[in-house]
Amino acid sequence: MKKSLRLLAVLLAFLHEISATQLQLNGEIRDNQLPANIGSPALLTCEVVNNTNAETLMWYRGTQQVDVKAENNVNVSHVCIPNVTSEDNGVSFTCLLKSDTSVKLSMQLNVPFNPVLSGDTIINGEESKTVQIICGFKANPAAAMFWRKNEKLFTLPDHYKQDMTTDSLHLTIEKVTKKDSANYTCVALSNGTETTRVFELIVADRKEELPVEAIAAAVVVGALIIAFAIFARRDKIFRCKKAEDETAM
Ligand SMILES: *[C@@H]1O[C@H](CO)[C@@H](O)[C@H](O)[C@H]1NC(C)=O
Ligand SMILES: *[C@@H]1O[C@H](CO)[C@@H](O)[C@H](O)[C@H]1NC(C)=O
Repeated sequence: MKKSLRLLAVLLAFLHEISATQLQLNGEIRDNQLPANIGSPALLTCEVVNNTNAETLMWYRGTQQVDVKAENNVNVSHVCIPNVTSEDNGVSFTCLLKSDTSVKLSMQLNVPFNPVLSGDTIINGEESKTVQIICGFKANPAAAMFWRKNEKLFTLPDHYKQDMTTDSLHLTIEKVTKKDSANYTCVALSNGTETTRVFELIVADRKEELPVEAIAAAVVVGALIIAFAIFARRDKIFRCKKAEDETAM
C-alpha cells in the first residue's frame, strides 16, 4: 500500500514535470546566446508551451523591465532591437511568466566588433617616481593584449610591471628614469589584425621639494628672534621708564 502510494507520487511528479508550463526563447528551452551584428536588427521571441490558461509574459533587458504592449504579451511575445550596436554586446534579455516569475529564460547578445582602445595618451612622469600607463580596451571576441616600446617588442625590465583587468591593460614603471621616456604602444591582436594606441611617456627632472624640517626650523628661529626683539625692547622701555621716573623725581 505504502509502496504504491510512493509510486503514484513519483508518477504524478513526472506528469507534472512533462505538463508544466514552460518557455521557449527563440526555440531554445535553455539559457542561450544570440549572435547579432552591428547595424542589423535582432529579434527575440518568447513562447509559452504546455499551458492550460492564457499566460502573460514579461521581459527584462539586464535588470530593467521592458515595456511590451498588451497585444504582445499573451502566450507569445516578441522583442526587437532594430539597430544593434557594440553596446548591446553581453546584454541579457530575460523572458518571464508573470504568474510564476521562477519560470524564465535568458538570451545574451553576442555582438562581434573590432577592438576599441582608450586612455590619456600623454603621460608626464617625474624622475624616481612611479608612473602608470593605462590602456582601456573593449573587444569581442577577446583580443591578445601587449605593449611595444618605440615600436619594438621588449621584455619588461625589473622595474616594469604589467597587469590586466577585464577592460584595461596597465604598465607600471617604478622609480622611473629619463631612459624610460618613450612611445609605448598598446596592441590588441584579434583575428590576425592589430589595433593600436600610442602612449607617450615624458619623464622630467625631479621637482625640488622644500624639506619639512627646514621649514619647521625656520619658523622656530623666526619666533625666537621676534620674542628676543620684544624682550630687548621691553628692557629698553623699562630702562627708559626708570630713567623718566628718576628725572621726574
Ligand atoms: C493562450 O493559451 C491558452 C492555452 O492554450 C489558450 O486557452 C488561450 O486562448 C491562449 N490565448 C491567446 C490570446 O492566444
Ligand atoms: C614619440 O613619437 C613621436 C612621433 O614619432 C616623436 O616625435 C617623439 O619624440 C617620440 N617620443 C619619445 C619620448 O620617444
